[in-house]
Amino acid sequence: MSYPIRAISRDEVGEFYRQMALGFGWDPAEGMAEGFAAFLESERTRCAFDGDDIVGTLATHSLELAVPGGVLATGGTTMVTVRSSHRRRGILRQMMSSHLDEVAGRGEPLAALWASESQIYERFGFGCASELCRIVVERAHSEFAETPEFSGRCRLLTPEEARRQLPAVYEKLWRGRPGHFARSPLWWEARHFSDPPWKREGGSALRFALYERDGEARGYLQYRQQAKSDEANLPRGRLHVVELQAEDAEASAALWHHALGVDLIEMVQAWNRPPDDPLFWLLADPRRARRSQRDALWVRILDLPAALAGRRYAVEGRVTLQVSDALRPDNSGTYVLEGGPEGAECARGGGPPDLELDVADLGAALMGGSRLATLARAGRVRGAPEAVARADRFFAWDPPPWCPEIF
Ligand SMILES: CC(C)(COP(=O)(O)OP(=O)(O)OC[C@H]1O[C@@H](n2cnc3c(N)ncnc32)[C@H](O)[C@@H]1OP(=O)(O)O)[C@@H](O)C(=O)NCCC(=O)NCCS
Repeated sequence: MSYPIRAISRDEVGEFYRQMALGFGWDPAEGMAEGFAAFLESERTRCAFDGDDIVGTLATHSLELAVPGGVLATGGTTMVTVRSSHRRRGILRQMMSSHLDEVAGRGEPLAALWASESQIYERFGFGCASELCRIVVERAHSEFAETPEFSGRCRLLTPEEARRQLPAVYEKLWRGRPGHFARSPLWWEARHFSDPPWKREGGSALRFALYERDGEARGYLQYRQQAKSDEANLPRGRLHVVELQAEDAEASAALWHHALGVDLIEMVQAWNRPPDDPLFWLLADPRRARRSQRDALWVRILDLPAALAGRRYAVEGRVTLQVSDALRPDNSGTYVLEGGPEGAECARGGGPPDLELDVADLGAALMGGSRLATLARAGRVRGAPEAVARADRFFAWDPPPWCPEIF
């Protein structure tokens, strides 16, 4: 059965929100819907209707996404739900096809998303392009290997000061880490500063620490504190790192040192850190820090030449790729990519391919994190060992991708 798919009007935003909350299993808290409506781009939604009822939701954030050495316009796929009474009738497939047409039609070479479950999106051409690392450090085992000496200092900010300071720090660094994206003032307010009680999940209001050196802000830490309780079965004092952004190694170490030094805290937790977080190399007893990794940002390439030429490459090179794209067959074909640290060009053609792969695996490799050699060892990328090794060196990038926030 086919359901009409269309964008909602501003009048339908409330209904969209109710359906989405139902789909994710939330009970909407007071003020939640208004906060969410502020940054919903209603004209970019693609919803399924059964009569007058919204039975499927999908929205898009217009993102500027950092890729290795560049920035690409990206449709940030989000708020995907199908009403439980209508699941597994192809509604997601219909909404996704319409959404990818819309993103491609606007000339955005990529779509990107965070997946609630990792087995859903590969069938639509998305590949896992970056991972996150969850970290739990017991305060009792948080000593640094070397007594740190910082030439700057951390100071706590009021929310008003944070509104002035944090965006400027982020602006200096986001383009340098693939997976980050530009934040508008509206995004900062709705996603990072607005702090109603329902966002706190038992923790304190947001706290902000800034690291300054030579009169300039070099990094910040946003966190919540959960008070220690002496009663049995109640949580021990915890500090939840919401975001830590640092311009350099000293700022990163100083902000971690601050987080690990807050009194009445027994455990510091961070649910989304980059897998290459330097913390482990700072700790005297790194095995005590518990880490677990999982998929984070998934990338779908819609315009192959624009996406591949829109990033830079670690070394000079030339690679010919034979790409298959079952959902968007016009993308299938052979592409020649040539470039290096200063830029790249990509066009159709190029003779016998060095590598054969699916568009989802190319999306995974695009950000330089998921390695082509690893994908080849999993049988997902095919080519002569020499060609795989060459392409692997070409696509790899430092720093590896990390997306600092879920959307
Ligand atoms: C995930 C969800 C949107 C799927 O919607 P749906 O309309 O039932 O999906 P479709 O019927 O269009 O299924 C499309 C394909 O995806 C597969 N699929 C859908 N949901 C899946 C899931 N949770 N796990 C594995 N496969 C899934 C279907 O089997 C189907 O496969 P095929 O077409 O290759 O045979 C819906 O189950 C839902 O709302 N879940 C709760 C909210 C959620 O997790 N949203 C995703 C946020 S990132």
